[in-house]
Amino acid sequence: MKDLKSIKVDVAKPEHVRYVDEINDAIDLASKQRGTGIARRSNEYLASKMEEGKAIIAFDGDKFAGFCYIETWGNKGFVANSGLIVVPEYRGLGLAKEIKMKAFQLSRKKYPNAKIFGLTTGLAVMKINHELGYRPVTFSELTDDDQFWNGCKGCVNYDILERMGRGKCLCTGMLYDPAWEKAPKAGNGIRKRSLLEVVQKLKPKNGFKIQKSELIKKTKE
Ligand SMILES: CC(C)(COP(=O)(O)OP(=O)(O)OC[C@H]1O[C@@H](n2cnc3c(N)ncnc32)[C@H](O)[C@@H]1OP(=O)(O)O)[C@@H](O)C(=O)NCCC(=O)NCCS
Repeated sequence: MKDLKSIKVDVAKPEHVRYVDEINDAIDLASKQRGTGIARRSNEYLASKMEEGKAIIAFDGDKFAGFCYIETWGNKGFVANSGLIVVPEYRGLGLAKEIKMKAFQLSRKKYPNAKIFGLTTGLAVMKINHELGYRPVTFSELTDDDQFWNGCKGCVNYDILERMGRGKCLCTGMLYDPAWEKAPKAGNGIRKRSLLEVVQKLKPKNGFKIQKSELIKKTKE
C-alpha cells in the first residue's frame, strides 16, 4: 500500500530533466484514456520548465509519481498550472492535491499579482481548485492570449471551442484572483460570503435536531 508520507513533492530541478520522457508518456496515456485532451507539450518545453524551476515533481524514492508545471500568459497577467499528472499506482492518496498546492504556492511567489486559472473537465481538479480558492468563471474572464488557446488544438473537443467562438467548451474555467484577498468587501460595503459561510450562519447553534424537539414540545403545550 502506497503512502503519501513517503512521497516527496518539490519544485523540479535541472537534474530531473532525465524524467521528461516518462512524464510526457504518462500525460499521453492519461489523455487517451480520458478521451479529452491534456494540452500536449514537447519534451523540450517540459524540460525547459524544469530547468527554470517552473514545475513541481513528485517522487517515491527515485520513482517518478507526479508532475505539474506553471505557464504565464497575457504578459504575465495570468498563470496556469497545467499538465497535472499522477502515475496510476499513486492515485487516490491526495498526491494531486499536494502537487497542485505546491504549484499554487510557487505561482503566488513568482507572480504575486497574476490571476491563476485552469480549464478542466475533471471532478478531482475542480475539487482541488475550489479548496485552493479558485471560482468557476466563464471563459471571458480568462486570458485572451492566443497562444494559450492554441494549446487546446490537441484536444478532441477543439471543434466545439472553435464553433463557440472560444466563449465556452466542455471544460469548466476556474480562476483565482489575488485581488479577492486584498478587497474582501464589495463596492457596496457588503462582504461576499461563500455558500458554506451562508449555510453555517443559517444553521441554528444547537443543531437542527434540538430545534425539532423544541418544536414538538411547543406543539404539545
Ligand atoms: C486527476 C488526477 C491528477 C487526480 O490525482 P489523485 O492524486 O488521485 O487525486 P487526489 O488523491 O489528490 O484527490 C483529490 C480529490 O479529488 C477526488 N478524486 C480523485 N480522483 C477522482 C476521480 N477520478 N473522480 C472524482 N473524484 C476524484 C478525491 O477523492 C479527492 O477529493 P476529496 O478531497 O474530497 O477527498 C489523476 O487521476 C490523474 O493523473 N489523471 C489523469 C490526468 C488528468 O486527468 N489530469 C488533469 C488534467 S485537468
